[in-house]
This record gives sequence, structure tokens and C-alpha cells, in this order.
Amino acid sequence: MVEPLFDAGEVPTPKKMMLKFVNSVVDNLPKSAALSRGLGGCTLKEASDYMRLTMARDNSLTVQGIGETRRSSFQGSSGLTQVDLRQDFYDPPEYLSTFAHAEKGFFLEGKDHRLIPRGLLFDGPPGTGKTAGARYLAEQWGIPLYRVDIAGTKNKYVGQSEANMLTNLARLDHEEPCVALLDEVEKVFSTSQGDSSGTTSSMLSQLLWWLAERRSKVFVVMTTNNAQALPKELYREGRIDASMWFGGLTGEEALPFVQAILKTFSVGKKAKLTQLADMIQKTPAIAGTQPMRYSQAALTKATYAFVKGLTKQALSEQDV
Ligand SMILES: Nc1ncnc2c1ncn2[C@@H]1O[C@H](COP(=O)(O)OP(=O)(O)O)[C@@H](O)[C@H]1O
Ligand SMILES: [Mg+2]
Repeated sequence: MVEPLFDAGEVPTPKKMMLKFVNSVVDNLPKSAALSRGLGGCTLKEASDYMRLTMARDNSLTVQGIGETRRSSFQGSSGLTQVDLRQDFYDPPEYLSTFAHAEKGFFLEGKDHRLIPRGLLFDGPPGTGKTAGARYLAEQWGIPLYRVDIAGTKNKYVGQSEANMLTNLARLDHEEPCVALLDEVEKVFSTSQGDSSGTTSSMLSQLLWWLAERRSKVFVVMTTNNAQALPKELYREGRIDASMWFGGLTGEEALPFVQAILKTFSVGKKAKLTQLADMIQKTPAIAGTQPMRYSQAALTKATYAFVKGLTKQALSEQDV
């Protein structure tokens, strides 16, 4: 199969070209200028679709009408999912909660783009709260979280050229303020993947361009299990604010973590300290950690199993 190196139809249209295109339809320069601003980030095909849909609905073309059409078509757009922010319990790493509190005001109300935080990279082994951390941040800032399905976008990009990276990213620009989650980026952008098709590299260059150039209030959280495998330019200064390490918990830190989960269960009070220490010791540690560290996911799972045991015990005690 021959894959297109770069599908020009998928790139957002340069402003001048968009203006020319819109003006070829409406033939009124000031109006075309206003409309083409409202079509920023669109491909020519999208622009013509939005104009047609708006015209069919309103019998006229206005910036407001175009905006409405774009919003309603966003809902069904592939490659972007709005993530539910509810979580039972999340104990953020201190550097993340500090960042969230310190930067909230700058992100939500900042006027000078140089001071507006742009993004973070969460690096660390599976189950240490990276994806959950993105939820936490969005929840703390009171804004929606969108997951950008880069792997799915890549697959689509090869075959059909409907949804692509930049279209999705440009759509996000219109949902500001929001957090964009690029989960497990190494799955797509790993430097060792040996993708000679050019699809990945063109997606990467689209992403890099957007990361560097966007002026919208879209805060980017990238997560990875292996930052080493990522192209450096993805997380270098200017594209994101910081890289945060999610390394799980030491045996010492695991105890208060487990106790905090137990507090959320009514039977939790019955747990004895020695039982908990025993439970932690039996939890599989993160591979290769010395001294041993435990992922919050593994500790959570062990605690739930423990709570089930306590619940059964409590029930049988009621029986007698
Ligand atoms: N800091 C944390 N506080 C509470 N629970 C956590 C924390 N980190 C991870 N967990 C638990 O582990 C599960 C998996 O976390 P997740 O964020 O998906 O890990 P990752 O994305 O790093 O692989 C969560 O659903 C939650 O139950
Ligand atoms: Mg994850």
C-alpha cells in the first residue's frame, strides 16, 4: 500500500487562501474576512461544508451561524472524546497539586501568553496515576478534559483522510479553555518504531507545530510509560512547562495511601496495621525497583480485595 506522505487537503488552510476561497463564495471582502476568521483551523473542504450547512439552516451566512455549525459538528467528530472527571479517590503527587494551585489563575485568567501554562509530560510506569492525574488537573481547574485519540487518528490517516491530527487539535482550539490528554504518546511517536511511511513523522510535525504555535487556552497533558523513547522535540522547553515523574510509592508511602482508601469504606476501620503491612508486602512491586516501589493501581486492587475479605468477615459475624 502506498501511503500519502502528506495529504495537503488535511492541513488547515492558510489565512489568505481561506479568505480567497470564502470570497469566491460570498463576493464581499469585509464579510469574507469576518467569515474566514470564523473558519480558522478548517480545511477548505470543512470550510465549504460548514458554509453549506449554515446556509441551508439559516438562509444566510454569519459568523455566529458558522460558529454554531462548527460546535454542533464537533460533538460527533472522531478522534476526540470528552472524559468523565469523576474519580473515587485520587491522591495527587505533591508537585502536581502544587502546579495545579500555582498555575490555575494564570491559565484561566492570564492575559499575557508568555505566562500562560501550556502543558505537562507525565512519565512513569503503568498504574501510577498519570491518566488519573490529567483528570485531577481538569477537575481542579474546572474545565473539560478531551482525550485525543492519536493512535486511532494515525490508522484513519493511512486509509481514509477524514479525521486527522491537526483537524482534531484545531477543533480543540475552539473548546478553550480545556485540557487535552495525549495518552501514551510513545505508542505512536516512539523513535524506535521504524515507521518509514512518513505518516507518523507528518503527524508529529503537525503536533509540534500546534504545540509551539497555539495561542488558545488548551492545556496539554502528555503521558508516557517511556519518555526515553520519545522524540526530544516533543517535550522540550517552550512546548510544555515541565516533565513530571510518576514513580509509584515506597513501602512507607504505601501505608498511608492504603489507609486513605480504606477510610472511604465503612468496614475499613476494622483493618489492623499488621494486616495492612502484610498486604503491602504481598503486592507485586513495580518491576526493577530497588528499594521496591508499588504502583497505586496495584495497591488499590489489593486494598479492594482486602475490603472484600473484611466485608465477608463482617457478614459472617452478623450471622452468628
Ligand atoms: N495518586 C493516586 N491516587 C489514587 N489512586 C490512584 C493514584 N494513581 C493511580 N491510582 C489508581 O490506579 C488506577 C490507574 O491509574 P492510571 O491513572 O490509569 O495510571 P497510568 O495512567 O499511570 O497507567 C486508577 O484508576 C486509580 O484507581
Ligand atoms: Mg494511563
